[in-house]
Formats: sequence, C-alpha cells, structure tokens
Amino acid sequence: MKKYKIALLKGDGIGPEITEQALRVLGKIGEIYGVQFEYREGLIGGIAIDEMGTPLPDETLELCRDSDAILLGAVGGPKWDNLPTDKRPEKGLLKIRKELDLYANLRPAKVWDALVAASPLKEDVVKGTDMLVIRELTSGIYYGEPRGIFEEGGKRYAVNTMKYTEEEIRRVVRKGFEIAKKRRRKLTSVDKANVLEVSALWRQVVEEEKKNFPDVELEYLYVDNCAMQLVRRPTTFDVIVTGNIFGDILSDEAGVVVGSLGMLPSASIGDKYALYEPVHGSAPDIAGKGIANPIATILSAAMMLKYSFGMDKAYDLIEKSVEETLNQGYRTPDIWSEGLIKVGTKEITDKILENIERFKGEYV
Ligand code: IPM
Ligand code: MG
Repeated sequence: MKKYKIALLKGDGIGPEITEQALRVLGKIGEIYGVQFEYREGLIGGIAIDEMGTPLPDETLELCRDSDAILLGAVGGPKWDNLPTDKRPEKGLLKIRKELDLYANLRPAKVWDALVAASPLKEDVVKGTDMLVIRELTSGIYYGEPRGIFEEGGKRYAVNTMKYTEEEIRRVVRKGFEIAKKRRRKLTSVDKANVLEVSALWRQVVEEEKKNFPDVELEYLYVDNCAMQLVRRPTTFDVIVTGNIFGDILSDEAGVVVGSLGMLPSASIGDKYALYEPVHGSAPDIAGKGIANPIATILSAAMMLKYSFGMDKAYDLIEKSVEETLNQGYRTPDIWSEGLIKVGTKEITDKILENIERFKGEYV
C-alpha cells in the first residue's frame, strides 16, 4: 500500500477544527484508493510563539522537510496582534514559504452554481467563473533587499525593493503555462510593464516561454486594468500568473468576486516541497464553536492529492461531493441564507463524506 507522510500544522483559532475535518476526508479517500496517510504534527503561528517563542520553530521546518506534503490550518489572532512584525504569526508563513522555496502559489477561485447569489456581482456576470491565480511567492517586494525604515538628517524614510531574477520569473511563468495547458488553455500574465523595469523583464521572459506552449492563448494585462476586468468579465479568465504583491491583491479580489472566503483553497508549490492551506484566516471569533466552514481546508487537502500525489480522480471526487452537498442545501453559517439547511463544521463534513461514498464508483 502506498504511504504518504504529511506534516500537519493546525495553527491557531479554527485551524485545529477545520484540519480535523480534512483528515476525515483524507481517511475516506485513503480507504477508497488504497493509500495510507501518516500525520506528524508541528507548531506554527501564535501557538508556536506561546510554546516555543517563535512563529516557525526549526523543529517544524525539519518535520516539513521530512514529509511528502504539508497541510496547514490557519495562523494568527488578536492575542499576537501587537507583537513587532518580525515576531508575529504571519512571519511564520513568510518564513516557511522562503525556507522551503514554495515559489508558486495556486489560488483557484470558482463560482459554484449553488452559491452564485453569494457573489456581490450580478449573476449573469459571474456565473460560470472558474479561474486560478498563480502568484509568485518567494521573491519580489516581499523579500527584496535593501529594506527597512531609516533616518537621515532627522527625517525618516523607508525602503522596500522589488527585485526578480530571470530564473525566478521563468519558473513560475512556466508553471502558469503548464497548468493552463491542462485547463482551458488561456494564460493572463499581469504586470505593470508601463512603469516598472521588473515588469519589463517579466514580459520578456513570458515572451520567451510562450514559444514552448503554442497551444496556450496568452493575454497581457497591466495590474490596474486586471483589477477592473476581474469584476467586469470574470468568466473570461482561466489562469492568471503574476508577481508576489500583485498576486496578493488580485487573489483577494478574485476571492470576493466568487463569493465565499470559506470556500477558497490554496497550494504553495516548489520543486521539492508543497504546502496546502485555506485562503481564509484563523477566525478567532468563532473558534471552538463548531460552526467554521471546513470546505476550504477540505479542498486544500484535495489539491494536495492532485498536485503532490497525482491523485487527480480523488480530487475530482472530493470536488463533486462538495458541490453535491451544496446542491442538497447544506450550509455552514458563513454561507447560509433563508430556506437552506444550517449545519456545523462536523455535520457538513458528514454530508460530504456521504456524497463521496455515493459517487466513488464514478471516480476510479
Ligand atoms: C496571504 C496573506 C499574507 C501575504 C500575509 C498574512 C503575510 O495576505 O497569504 O495572502 O501577504 O502573503
Ligand atoms: Mg493576502
């Protein structure tokens, strides 16, 4: 039997309860496809600050390096909000991305037919939207040097540096083309080439790479225009590839376009390691109440099956089962509305598991 080692980083707030539900789904998938998942837990975020004095202890990094994939819940909370930036839970995230070289951040944003009304956009504009934002995650202005707040002649100034090497651009752009090729074969490269040299180089590299993917349609957009097109014509996007900060902003926008944050999974992929986590945060206000939406984490686990273990069918089965659960009317409070069935974290997972059982024969 195939065996995979998964580093489990539950994190803070609702992190533990939502990852628990994802593990139930993985357990079921393991039975169906005859694979075994072995979990080892590590600390990250606020809980790691409390117990180890740092948001990303070396032990956790070691554990991740010794695993086939990493599943993360969420980090952060008001308790740690007043710490200096380099001590905050978020620092744990930035550090793990860099240390494990998780350079391609995949954030799918899809409008589920059952949730189309949850989008702030009109139904006829948004229905059918299914896009994937690929954000460069280990370089650009987030990490460039020099950086800092300085003082000169009694006046303060601050510096951040946007820097990309050719290789850093190429590897994420290539991921963009490869993934687009397996989807609807359209790639939108987003930059600010009318102003920034970094973006000019970005475009040159995209031009070079496109020769290897003649069957992928390529579109360039400036980031400001892209922000606009995302709300005007969301259905026309397939894969978007962009740098770190533009991707941070556009993926939030894509998330709101499709309606519910509680539904958005993500994968952060490098050549050696990969980490899967929901896009939403730790929601400390509802932690422990049993009402958090586990779907983003369940779909993140599904992405792990697909991208780390090549289990594409299992991914499809989970997605189908989530969709059916929504069609049956089950909703956690964050996506509930009048006339639908309000259920908790565990109950919605029960329904998803029932649907997996029901559809498993179609996804062998
Ligand atoms: C994200 C978040 C992080 C980022 C923060 C928490 C550091 O906004 O994952 O998008 O900016 O990358
Ligand atoms: Mg963000």
